[in-house]
Amino acid sequence: MLFKQQVLLRQKLLVLGSLAIGSLLYLVARVGSLDRLQPLCPVDGRFGPRGQDEIPLRALQFKRGLLHEFRKGNATKEQIRLHNLVQQLPKAIIIGVRKGGTRALLEMLNLHPAVVKASQEIHFFDNDENYAKGIEWYRKKMPFSYPHQITIEKSPAYFITEEVPERIYKMNSSIKLLIIVREPTTRAISDYTQVLEGKERKNKTYYKFEKLAIDPNTCEVNTKYKAVRTSIYTKHLERWLKYFPIEQFHIVDGDRLITEPLPELQLVEKFLNLPPRISQYNLYFNATRGFYCLRFNIVFNKCLAGSKGRIHPEVDTSVITKLRKFFHPFNQKFYQITGRTFNWP
Ligand code: A3P
Repeated sequence: MLFKQQVLLRQKLLVLGSLAIGSLLYLVARVGSLDRLQPLCPVDGRFGPRGQDEIPLRALQFKRGLLHEFRKGNATKEQIRLHNLVQQLPKAIIIGVRKGGTRALLEMLNLHPAVVKASQEIHFFDNDENYAKGIEWYRKKMPFSYPHQITIEKSPAYFITEEVPERIYKMNSSIKLLIIVREPTTRAISDYTQVLEGKERKNKTYYKFEKLAIDPNTCEVNTKYKAVRTSIYTKHLERWLKYFPIEQFHIVDGDRLITEPLPELQLVEKFLNLPPRISQYNLYFNATRGFYCLRFNIVFNKCLAGSKGRIHPEVDTSVITKLRKFFHPFNQKFYQITGRTFNWP
């Protein structure tokens, strides 16, 4: 009996031991595969000198750790010089559209080892006071990066602000411009929801969406309402086309970025002439959030803030129908100009 118990105990210990060794081996293999996941980054010649097209793994670790500290202003001049870090003007800008998914796009692109994001919206080109401070002021707002990395900024107000295309053109006429769009009526409601939440936070009352979107005198769509105007994408794009050829724009499908982000990001990598480095591993669906979240490595992952992905208020279906009918011809024109068609009603 005692012998039987001893045998059983030994067997149990053996199983536990194998499990522990198995887990250890798995972890070692996992870390190894992570190294393989983003070890080297060949960057296209457009964005860096040839021959300098590989970012060693140490540099990536640096990017995620120390560089983060530097961005917060914790770098000494000596460290910056030692690591050859620079604050570069953006080579690509997410110019809009507000509530299109601009934050998700920026954060997801930042998963790419050759991309460094400017965390804050800088509002350099749309804000006269900031613009008057000059381009050096703008550059100093940029994060530190290696010379072969590219900096990306996002300020969605750029898309709709009259003066911005000319100002960006003056800085860099060959800059790459990213526009992320959503079905225009949904975007307008999302825009309204954000403003509504701001009012509620201040204990203020606000109008219903229907009241703002429809002119009570004419019963037609109220084109003076900013959330409606912003969704007339073609009108804004036409202003940009006076300065930049359409080839310099890439349109991102914001609705697809929510449900299936990887293919959209791969199109952006291609547009930016970056080697494909963002993989399915970097994106995982979080059922609690109801959105894809970001996985940088085995220890570091994050979801977007709670302010992204708000619940929209119910809107009268007749108002939705009216808005969709209103946007329809503008959408057709937008498809025609951009060469990208969406299944918008
Ligand atoms: P809603 O709040 O209407 O759902 P922006 O960053 O331009 O303000 O856009 C916000 C929108 O990004 C959100 O709109 C949300 O739907 C969308 N989005 C796209 N991908 C997301 C993600 N992974 N996590 C959270 N929100 C995401």
